[in-house]
Amino acid sequence: MSDQQNVYPVRDDFAANAWADKAKYEAMYQQSMDDPEGFWAEQAKRLDWIKAPTKIKNTSFARDNVDIRWFEDGLLNVSANCLDRHLEKRGDQTAIIWEGDNPDDSKHITYRELYARTNQLANALKELGIGKGDTVTLYMPMIPEAAMAMLACSRIGAVHSVVFGGFSPDAVAQRVIGADSKLVITADESVRGGKHVPLKENVDAALTREGTDVCKNVLVVKRTGGEIDWKEGRDIWFDELVDKQSSECEPEAMGAEDPLFILYTSGSTGAPKGLKHTTGGYLTYAAMTHQYVFDYQEGEIYWCTADVGWVTGHSYIVYGPLANGATTLMFEGVPSYPTHGRMGDIVDKHNVNILYTAPTAVRALMAHGENVMDSSKRDSLRLLGSVGEPINPEAWEWFYRVIGNEKCPIVDTWWQTETGGIMIAPLPGATPLKPGSATVPFFGVKPALVDNEGKQLEGATEGNLVILDAWPGQARSIWGDHERFVQTYFSTYDGMYFTGDGCRRDEDGYYWITGRVDDVLNVSGHRMGTAEIESSLVAHSAVAEAAVVGFPHDIKGQGIYIYVTLNDGIDPTDELKKELTQWVRKDIGPIASPDVIQWAPGLPKTRSGKNHAPYSAQDCCQRV
Ligand code: WTA
Repeated sequence: MSDQQNVYPVRDDFAANAWADKAKYEAMYQQSMDDPEGFWAEQAKRLDWIKAPTKIKNTSFARDNVDIRWFEDGLLNVSANCLDRHLEKRGDQTAIIWEGDNPDDSKHITYRELYARTNQLANALKELGIGKGDTVTLYMPMIPEAAMAMLACSRIGAVHSVVFGGFSPDAVAQRVIGADSKLVITADESVRGGKHVPLKENVDAALTREGTDVCKNVLVVKRTGGEIDWKEGRDIWFDELVDKQSSECEPEAMGAEDPLFILYTSGSTGAPKGLKHTTGGYLTYAAMTHQYVFDYQEGEIYWCTADVGWVTGHSYIVYGPLANGATTLMFEGVPSYPTHGRMGDIVDKHNVNILYTAPTAVRALMAHGENVMDSSKRDSLRLLGSVGEPINPEAWEWFYRVIGNEKCPIVDTWWQTETGGIMIAPLPGATPLKPGSATVPFFGVKPALVDNEGKQLEGATEGNLVILDAWPGQARSIWGDHERFVQTYFSTYDGMYFTGDGCRRDEDGYYWITGRVDDVLNVSGHRMGTAEIESSLVAHSAVAEAAVVGFPHDIKGQGIYIYVTLNDGIDPTDELKKELTQWVRKDIGPIASPDVIQWAPGLPKTRSGKNHAPYSAQDCCQRV
């Protein structure tokens, strides 16, 4: 890729009015490097603390002592920061605009209304015996109750674990067990693209799995009124329980390092890991990045198209925007329904100013041609954002030209579930843009490129992306398995956080993420471990061995390519391919649908005779 391509200078109106121009970015960045304690002590003041922190940074990346604490003696409550403190100034301002799957369905929820309902729900959780330190699994549609549930947990000190609504019953069961959840909050059904997804039925199936009896109750939002089974004594209608509660619930004083949420994500080996994020540092970082990277200005309408099941939904639909008193739009449906112009229609309908989406969505629209957005004008847009995977320059240019009418800067934001918030991204008033580059580090972020031995590489070069020092938003551990946390992120290169991404740095110090260097796929911006898919396949009785690799895919970024060796005597038929496809979809979820299955009589082995694939039928515990 050449750096001689288009550079988009900072627009004058942004340089003049944004939260940071070039000089300010440089000065603040330098201060954040020279004096992290002072810098973050100042930034922590953006939150309301019950007790202000005096100890700011206490962090170690050393392999034998990975220990990350920020603001550790401070006390605060996340929901109070996202709700209570806004009531006086903006109680009647819209906090959440909800846009339903059906374009005729939408509603506005003010900060006052969100406050009241969240408090009622918090009291309902207490009535169900949920308290500080308990975990609650959320398996929900993109409806305001999802945000309320997250905030209600934080109000009483419960730890939420949101499971993406596209995951299978097995995935739900695994996460309920992993997090030890006493309660699941779900809905009867979710609605996406006119189709109903049976969330409650999936929860019912999940809770028949061994080990899930820790879960005592299921709280069910009535979204569609579709028919569902009901287990007396366990299942409770959301509205019935919540309506009768008081709308005042004292926020719990939480330590800055108390857990706020667990979020499962795929790694290169083993089952998905539950990353543990904590309270004070996470919220400071989510709020600050939301303000600066999106240059959020008072009164603006901000829309992040992610699902709350992913970290992007946590940090940039719920916590960052609400901590900043923003109006955040939550969309229940899919960008292709009822037409491919839907995203633009929503922008016009709600006068969206900031649109944060994924390259895969842009490429899907591109495939429908230049006129796909003609039903909308999108004049209200001021800024665009991209996240989840590298954006190819062609998609970037199309996003800029067709969606943004050539007047909106694009912030390409690189970060991860583990990082809690945006790490490398332009600031629109400060950073000239290069299509395809996430550009430069955010305040407090110290990236470096290393070779395979961990030697730091200088200047314009390419290598493995590591981060050299702690930042407040980062995950603190893997739930219940700190050793795995250390092994996964801090043992490859001692004293450094290893991201798992490869990256190039150009002459201007801009970072260009080249993609994962481990066995993690990124399919339509969804992270998936090849090992997870392989282990699912070998649990099928016809399969002897399986190896999963990614391949370039025009729309998804990466597709899933599977080599399968069948057991002796099994016929390699097209029927069997279909069956294996369904098997993986059912086992993990539709996002893991194989694109290509190729029969392979044998898979490559290393010289010592190990399978190339980490899983084979012999060494995988039986999962059926
Ligand atoms: C990839 C999503 C290039 C990367 C927030 C990372 C990106 C993984 C970008 C994390 C970007 C995310 N440019 N690659 N702007 N954003 N990635 O945990 O490989 O779902 O490691 O977090 O997505 O995915 P995750």
